[in-house]
Amino acid sequence: MSSRSIFRTKNIEQSIKDTEEPEHALKKSLSALDLTVFGVGVVIGTGIFVLTGKVAKQNAGPSVAVAFAVAGVVCALAALCYAEFSSTVPVAGSAYTFSYASLGEFPAWIIGWDLILELALGAAVVAVGWSGYIRSLLDSAGFHLPQALSGTHGGTFGFDLLAALLVLVLTGILVAGTKLSSRVTNVIVAVKVTVVLIVIVVGAFLVTGANYDPFVPPSRSTEGGSGLAAPLIQVVAGFTPSNFGIMGIFTAAAVVFFAFIGFDVVATAAEETRDPQRDVPRGILGSLVICTVLYIAVSVVVTGMQKYTELSVDAPLADAFKSVGHPFWAGLISFGAAVGLTSVCMILLLGQTRVFFAMSRDGLLPQAFSRVHPRFGSPYRSTLLLGLVVAAVAGFTSIDELAELVNIGTLFAFVVVALGVIVLRRTRPDLERSFRTPFVPWLPIVSVLASLWLMLNLPSETWLRFVVWMVVGCVVYFTYGRSHSRLDTASGTRP
Ligand code: ALA
Repeated sequence: MSSRSIFRTKNIEQSIKDTEEPEHALKKSLSALDLTVFGVGVVIGTGIFVLTGKVAKQNAGPSVAVAFAVAGVVCALAALCYAEFSSTVPVAGSAYTFSYASLGEFPAWIIGWDLILELALGAAVVAVGWSGYIRSLLDSAGFHLPQALSGTHGGTFGFDLLAALLVLVLTGILVAGTKLSSRVTNVIVAVKVTVVLIVIVVGAFLVTGANYDPFVPPSRSTEGGSGLAAPLIQVVAGFTPSNFGIMGIFTAAAVVFFAFIGFDVVATAAEETRDPQRDVPRGILGSLVICTVLYIAVSVVVTGMQKYTELSVDAPLADAFKSVGHPFWAGLISFGAAVGLTSVCMILLLGQTRVFFAMSRDGLLPQAFSRVHPRFGSPYRSTLLLGLVVAAVAGFTSIDELAELVNIGTLFAFVVVALGVIVLRRTRPDLERSFRTPFVPWLPIVSVLASLWLMLNLPSETWLRFVVWMVVGCVVYFTYGRSHSRLDTASGTRP
């Protein structure tokens, strides 16, 4: 392949060697358990604490539990592909690095650009959700933040001060080094999982069987839901846009998919793992299984405690407990949710800086961003730059549209990773893979189709926004990345 080709691939041995250059090397300190905690730390968050109520109320009723199972299966298929890739290419950058070694530079750029969108907007969404929970706790204590500093609600603009502050503080922690932040994460994850278990165990005694009837509410056409806000599949197939019913379960699955985002971030920490060949697959699959079981249990319990039509959309888990006369548990759950969202936001920020770091190290983004801090060993420049941008996005933007954009970006990454597994098996059969995806090429093909199906169940306007972001990415690649790439022998930047 010519060195000018946009499909030039980065040699895998070179990728591993790059990580060993002292000035670009991250510390190797994480174990399989650290990674699982990392995974659970980022995965359980706004999705289960906030979106469950909205989706049960608007799209699926009690069958939201089935939607979680559907989204979980899509993620499990993708996880099996991620695990093979990350055990073969143990360097920072997740799907970006994997596709650079298999599909070529341009597809890798596309996926890296896409991952920055996923992780940066994901962090902003979670920061805004966190700020909502904190305000609700402050309100209970009789302290009310002025509207102008409480974020945008129902068309009234406000700067979300708490969300922006959270991102800035977490950025500071990340600059100080991963080990410190993973210790903080461990404590936070323990609090969060305890709260989720409280919801399941205590809530199970407060369920009323009649609330499950109907389990799958009959399909209902949506007024004014046509056009851009309707799922693309309904528009393309010419259906009258509708909620509930069987299609409602898939619409719900495409939204609650947000609750699973993050298990792929575990792969971005491969370079900082002591034994990535063994520990990364374990970390990814372990955290995914734990979360899927918890989500199904939580959604079954919550829709059993309160009729789906009455669930709240802001704090559904806590409010379900209030509705059955248990304000103490409700307060505790709100507190745990706020604590838990902190770790989600932090790990998304970490993942995003690692992707940016890897792209910069390869020259596709300015190389100045891939210097690591001499004392902390963290990629402090990319961390600071992205932290400031995410703080601004979290402060100025409202949560709704962002979450669906995050989902489409992540599902697209899944598609590329699954294709990458197939390609790499053909082009580099010789590479040692400590984890092998079963049933290749069939399982990756099913994974591609499943991810595409969920993407099609997202609104048309989400597709439009995604296409715009990707077009901007293409412009940046062809005007900067292509000629500055370290693989570009013509530019003479290859050391
Ligand atoms: N999965 C994460 C959440 O639910 C991003 O907040």
